[in-house]
Amino acid sequence: MNKLSFLAKRGNLISVTVAGEGMPLILLHGFPLDHRLWLQQFDYLSKNYCIIAPDLRGFGQSTLTEEPYSMADLAEDVEQVRQHMTDDQPVALCGLSMGGYVAFEYWRHYSKSLTALILANTKPEEDTDQGRAARRAMSERAHQLGSWHAVSEMLPKLLSEQHFAQLGSQFQAAEQMLRSCSADAVSSAQRAMADRADFIALLPALSTPTLVITGEEDTIAPPAATRKWAAVIPNSQCHVLAGAAHLTPLEQPQQFNQLVHEFLGSL
Ligand code: MLT
Repeated sequence: MNKLSFLAKRGNLISVTVAGEGMPLILLHGFPLDHRLWLQQFDYLSKNYCIIAPDLRGFGQSTLTEEPYSMADLAEDVEQVRQHMTDDQPVALCGLSMGGYVAFEYWRHYSKSLTALILANTKPEEDTDQGRAARRAMSERAHQLGSWHAVSEMLPKLLSEQHFAQLGSQFQAAEQMLRSCSADAVSSAQRAMADRADFIALLPALSTPTLVITGEEDTIAPPAATRKWAAVIPNSQCHVLAGAAHLTPLEQPQQFNQLVHEFLGSL
């Protein structure tokens, strides 16, 4: 794996981890995570694809300017990553949860550069008022009490009951990422997610081949709701992975990798 960083338009240094050769596949992590979410995808998928995993603004090794940002700004960062890393080739784009919100925006603005979309543990609808209030509260808690205090409550929602109880490698990997994010990163991302657009009405126009994945125990992107919105996307397939909650690539890497490989191979 190689690590590169480059200065994106708004003055943020974007760190990108890259490995493998072949069709470019960009992987966008969720909140409050970083490129380490995808370590097991690097292991397997880099045999056939050029895997490109940026750290979104403020997470991992990417920096964050004081300016607030939107999901569309993050999509613009992704477009700069694509141009910079692929010699302007079209890419397959995979986003998990917040990474999925960015992937929807990427599709809206740059669909000509997309060969395929993989939407993992995410949802197309905007927040409810209650959801927005919870995000404001988390943003304030991160500043007042520290980022770990604010995000630690998410751990049981990220992992299946079994992975949470076992305290094994999945738990440790998730905990490590949550512990390493800053209060500013948490707060800016929460504000950006609270203001994100609603994509429900646009789903019938999503003609890019799309693979939708969620975990059987995901309460943030629950299977029944996921199946329902995925069915509205014309050229899509939807899979629900057993033994996983919100972090399917980390919790069920073999099944996740296999689905991605078969999907991309079928295009
Ligand atoms: C994520 O995993 O990115 C978050 O759960 C997304 C969200 O808070 O909506």
